[in-house]
Amino acid sequence: MNNYSLHKIREEYLNFFKEKNHLVRESFSLVPKNDKSLLLINAGMAPLKPYFIGTLEPPNKRMSTCQKCVRTGDIENVGKTDRHGTFFEMLGNFSFGDYFKTEAIDWAWEFMTEVLKISKDKLWVSVYLDDDDAYKIWNEKIGVSKDRIVRLGKEDNFWEMEVGPCGPCSEIYIDRGEKYSCGDEDCKPGCECDRYVEVWNLVFSQYDKDEKGNYNPLPNPNIDTGMGLERITAVLNDANNIFEIEPIITIINEVEKTANVKYGEDKKTDVSIRVITDHIRAMTFLVCDGVIPSNEGRGYVLRRVIRRASRHGKLLGIKGNFLNRLVDSVIDNWKEFYNELDDMKGQIKKIIKIEEEKFEETIDQGIEILKSYINEMKSNNETTLKGEKAFKLYDTYGFPLDLTKEILEDEDLKVDEEQFNKEMESQRNRARSARSSDGIEAWDANKSLDLDVGIKTEFEGYDKLSSQSKVLAIIKESQSIEKLSENEEGYIILDNTPFYGESGGQIGDKGTIENKYFTGSVYDTKRNNDRFLHLVKVNSGEIRVGDQVNALVDKSIRSDIARNHSATHLLHKALKEVIGEHVNQAGSLVTEDRLRFDFTHFEALTKEQVNEIEKVVNKQIFDSLQVEVLETSIDEAKQMGATALFDEKYGEKVRLVKIGDYSMELCGGTHINNVSQIGMFKIIGESGIASGVRRIEAVTGRKLYNMINEMENEINSIATILKTNKDNFIEKAKSTINEVKTLEKEIDMLKSKLANSKIDDLLKEVYKVDGINIITKKIDGMDIDGLRQLGDKLKDKTDNIVVVLGTEKDNKVNFIATATQDAVKEGIHCGNIIREVAKTTGGGGGGRPNMAQAGGKDPAKIQEALNKVKELVKEQLNK
Ligand code: ALA
Repeated sequence: MNNYSLHKIREEYLNFFKEKNHLVRESFSLVPKNDKSLLLINAGMAPLKPYFIGTLEPPNKRMSTCQKCVRTGDIENVGKTDRHGTFFEMLGNFSFGDYFKTEAIDWAWEFMTEVLKISKDKLWVSVYLDDDDAYKIWNEKIGVSKDRIVRLGKEDNFWEMEVGPCGPCSEIYIDRGEKYSCGDEDCKPGCECDRYVEVWNLVFSQYDKDEKGNYNPLPNPNIDTGMGLERITAVLNDANNIFEIEPIITIINEVEKTANVKYGEDKKTDVSIRVITDHIRAMTFLVCDGVIPSNEGRGYVLRRVIRRASRHGKLLGIKGNFLNRLVDSVIDNWKEFYNELDDMKGQIKKIIKIEEEKFEETIDQGIEILKSYINEMKSNNETTLKGEKAFKLYDTYGFPLDLTKEILEDEDLKVDEEQFNKEMESQRNRARSARSSDGIEAWDANKSLDLDVGIKTEFEGYDKLSSQSKVLAIIKESQSIEKLSENEEGYIILDNTPFYGESGGQIGDKGTIENKYFTGSVYDTKRNNDRFLHLVKVNSGEIRVGDQVNALVDKSIRSDIARNHSATHLLHKALKEVIGEHVNQAGSLVTEDRLRFDFTHFEALTKEQVNEIEKVVNKQIFDSLQVEVLETSIDEAKQMGATALFDEKYGEKVRLVKIGDYSMELCGGTHINNVSQIGMFKIIGESGIASGVRRIEAVTGRKLYNMINEMENEINSIATILKTNKDNFIEKAKSTINEVKTLEKEIDMLKSKLANSKIDDLLKEVYKVDGINIITKKIDGMDIDGLRQLGDKLKDKTDNIVVVLGTEKDNKVNFIATATQDAVKEGIHCGNIIREVAKTTGGGGGGRPNMAQAGGKDPAKIQEALNKVKELVKEQLNK
């Protein structure tokens, strides 16, 4: 047996199949393209589905890859056992209607026995129950003895995913020897124990399984094989499992160093080490392929993986974030084969770090809360955590459901998942209804309309803005009707139309529909499959099904929309250039007023980046790049390097919008002929709309011109207010502000002068009652702070004094009373004085013996109130 390394086996495999005339391709991205049935690539064949089903012509009828795969179905077991993992590499050779069972089996055997030099007496095979062809090939052609061929049922030997190419399969097993056996007499391939390890799956893809579960025969029988690279490496090196092979051991060593623990010494510690070792590879490769942590879809898979690993880091006692540093050992060990890792290194580390930090902020709090839930459950003898509570942990503290589950499991508790999902759904509904409350009747393009299937609209608007058309149907409140009369609104369906129906983020056209007897304004155009629905309000006359009409698109609105659409393509490309290739479109809105572009990125753009993007877009505009539209096949478009959206479904023919040599996107929208027609491009907003998704809003052409005019008017107004012209207004504004500052200082100085002079005047008004000095005075226009300061100053100048001041400011009455300590000793209590004083003006208040304040209502009575002070002081002294 050749105990080759992981990298060497990969190389040998790909070379072997290259020699068998296979086209060897680099691994496809983990993010599926044009495939809504799959969140992440989970098998070598997954990115090749269109070649199997025949919707795309393969570049070669034989292909071979080493494909990055992620499977998270068993994520809660990863770490707990040494068999489970999320990320792995799959070796595969594929035939699209070319070779079939004989060659597939023949070459698999040749590779195993002659390249890997595995001795024949260690090999076993299995075939599908009634697959006599495969049985015969193994037995008669290859010479595997009958007792080494096992027939297994659908569970083991029929390979399928939820939908897509599938078929019966045949598997190759390696016998690892007695020492791995469960000891059962019947122990053979199919047994659960570790002795017979299934290493290579040869699938004879003959069917395409649809959503309903039907197996539709494929036009050509295909071959799809898969061999887990880590597993075969472990077996060849007689390692117990994939955690004992290089370069995975290197990662384990890094984890040991970081956490200051040893692998293999403690069961619990080992679980955490394995979790981190597995997950660090998954997250590195996922981020590298453009996945950003979020609460949806594949972003959520990534978030779970990062947060789970982060928590296990905590369990190991690692302080602070560490995953972003561990990423280095993954990149260093895999970059030779996956060059993209090195290119994306900075981004990968940054994104993981941000997510770790985000989780750090809430994890401790979340764990405390979960602990309190657990205690509560235990004392109530409950075993299931309420869904609302698990949801709160998810929503507020970022705990993925399986993390909550896992922590609960350690205590033999579980979660009410059904309730959790309900909470999740209602949150989604809330978000949805918030989005659709824009006033216009929400139109569902897939709403089924009770119309003849023949009712279809031909779109002619790429090169025409008017047409002679026939009214095929009129729809009001989802019902088909015969006519619309003056002032009525409804959707009109024409046989052909120049109006663009909203799609791909571009809004529908506006304009008019008219004939001799009728005029109507088109406010919007929507699509319902092949039908274009014009939202029309009848201005005069009436319109009936069967009428001939002129359909006229509003030319200036259309050209504003086209400017913004072409500008969106320039922006998309500029973002990739300035920010990085990981930027992908996450949403887009193109209207006549502005464009809005949502894209995947993990942090706010800096002012410099925004400026740079704007500059790059404007450069293309000023360079007057030509816009060309080509019709081609999706494959050709991709080969040309066109940007396609992940989730879009593209037909046989695609429309390619090419802007000079700068940008190339698949797009069905309407564009201008030359980007110079955009005029100019200006970003007016950059913000975050969800975790990992940013939004840019921008304006062009006419709108930008109007904005500049508005700004100019504002500047002129400012200049007029500042009594200058727009050339000097900045200087004037600066000098005015300086002047104001100087004046303020002057005022402060004068105020304090005034206060001091008041003090001298006031001191002249001191009178005595039983040896206590008293000042009472009404001072208008002063606020309570001013009164207090004045009171303090008076106290500084005289011993044994009580000061009571009243003021009226802005129709409000305020009093303060303050006394020196020696006066207090004599029996003075300011709080009691002020209460009585304020009462006279209809107010109230109180305070300490040496300081009190109060408010009042009737300014006319301030003097009367102050006059009471003398008596009050007397009373207090006599007590
Ligand atoms: N597609 C097959 C598998 O994943 C080869 O096992």
